[in-house]
Amino acid sequence: MKQYNIAIEGVEGGVFTQGDSDTVLRAALRAGIGFPYECNSGGCGSCKCEVVSGEVENLWPEAPAITERDRRKGRLLACQCRARTDLRIRMRPQAEAKPMIPPKRMRARLAEVREITHDIREFRFRTAEPATFLPGQYAMLAIPGVSSPRAYSMSNLARAAEGGEWHLQIRRVPHGKATEVLFHHLHPGDEVELDGPYGMAYLRQDVSRDIVCVAGGSGLAPMVSIARGASQAGMLRQRHLHFFYGARTPRDVCGESFLRELPEFGDRIHFHPVVSLPADEAALWSGETGFVHELVRRTLSDRMAEFEFYFAGPPPMTNALHEMLMVGYRVPFAQIHFDRFF
Ligand SMILES: Cc1cc2nc3c(=O)[nH]c(=O)nc-3n(C[C@H](O)[C@H](O)[C@H](O)COP(=O)(O)OP(=O)(O)OC[C@H]3O[C@@H](n4cnc5c(N)ncnc54)[C@H](O)[C@@H]3O)c2cc1C
Ligand code: FES
Repeated sequence: MKQYNIAIEGVEGGVFTQGDSDTVLRAALRAGIGFPYECNSGGCGSCKCEVVSGEVENLWPEAPAITERDRRKGRLLACQCRARTDLRIRMRPQAEAKPMIPPKRMRARLAEVREITHDIREFRFRTAEPATFLPGQYAMLAIPGVSSPRAYSMSNLARAAEGGEWHLQIRRVPHGKATEVLFHHLHPGDEVELDGPYGMAYLRQDVSRDIVCVAGGSGLAPMVSIARGASQAGMLRQRHLHFFYGARTPRDVCGESFLRELPEFGDRIHFHPVVSLPADEAALWSGETGFVHELVRRTLSDRMAEFEFYFAGPPPMTNALHEMLMVGYRVPFAQIHFDRFF
C-alpha cells in the first residue's frame, strides 16, 4: 500500500501520512490532528482546505458543500479528496476537533436486523475488535456496490461486555443507493468495512445541566445513544432529559420503546413526540402537531438557555433549531451539539 506524507503549512507537528485508499480528512483524524469537520460526506463544508503543493484526486467534484468561489480559490473538501503525491496543505487545526478516540477501519459482520418502523431498521454489526465510541458518534460504512461510504450513527453504548457491537438505526431512502443495498441485498453473515468513530456531537458527561435531545426522522440512533449514555453514567440521578422526536406521519413516530427500558423513564426522562402531517393518518393521532423545533419552543421556552442541547436529523430541522436556539434564545454555542444528516 502506498503512503503519502502530508504537511500542514505553518503548523508545528502538523505532519501525517495518508494510505492509498484513505481521505485527507480521515488520515488526519487517525493521526490525532484536530481537523475541523462534521459530516464526512461532502455536505457541510467544515473540512475545507487548500492544497499548496502536490496532487490530489477529487472523489466528488460536484459535492454540495463546494461553491463556485471555492473552486476559483482552489479550495477542496478534505473529506472528499485523496493525496496522490506528498502534499503541503493549508488549514487551521482546532483543539476541540482533536478526536477523543482516533478512528480505525475494521471488518464488520452483519449479525442481526430488527424492524423499528415501516421504514427504519436496526442493523447490528459485529467486529472482532472492541467497539470504541462515545454516545452520539457515527461510523462510515463502505457498502458493497456503492462507490462512496455512508455515515450512520450508533444507537448502543460501547460497553466492554458487549464486545465489538455497532447498532445502526437506518431509514430507507426511496431510490437511495446505500439503503437499497442495506435493506434488500445485505444479509446476516455478510461483511462490510466499518470506519469509526467520527463526530463531535457526543455526550458531554462533565456538564451539570438538564439535557434536551431532539431527533428528526433518521436522527433517532444518536439521540437514543445519548439518552442511554446519560442514564448509564448516572447523569439523570439529579437531572432531567427531554427527548423530542419529530415525525412526518403518525406511523413514523418511534423512540419511546428504547427510552422505556431506562430506569428514569417517566420520572426524569420525558418523551415528546410530534407529527408534521397528521392529516395523512388523522384517526391514529391525537398528540402534538407541527415541526419539532416549534414543540421544543412551546415546551421549554421560559428556560431555554438552561439546557445542554443535542440534536440530529435532516438539515431543515437542524438549521431551524440552531437558529431558534442561538438567535431566538441566545443559548450559548458551547451548549449546542448537533449532526446534520446529509
Ligand atoms: C453524520 C451523519 C450521520 C448519519 N446518521 C444516519 C443514521 O443514523 N441513520 C440514517 O438512516 N441515516 C444517517 N445518515 C444519512 C446517511 O449517511 C445516508 O445519507 C442515507 O442513508 C442515504 O443514503 P443512500 O445512499 O441510500 O441515498 P443516496 O441518495 O443514494 O445518497 C445520499 C448521500 O450519499 C452521499 N453521496 C452521494 N453521492 C456521492 C458521491 N458521488 N460521492 C460521495 N458521497 C456521495 C451524500 O452524503 C448523500 O447525502 C447520516 C448522515 C450523516 C452525514
Ligand atoms: S466534513 Fe467534509 S463536507 Fe462535511
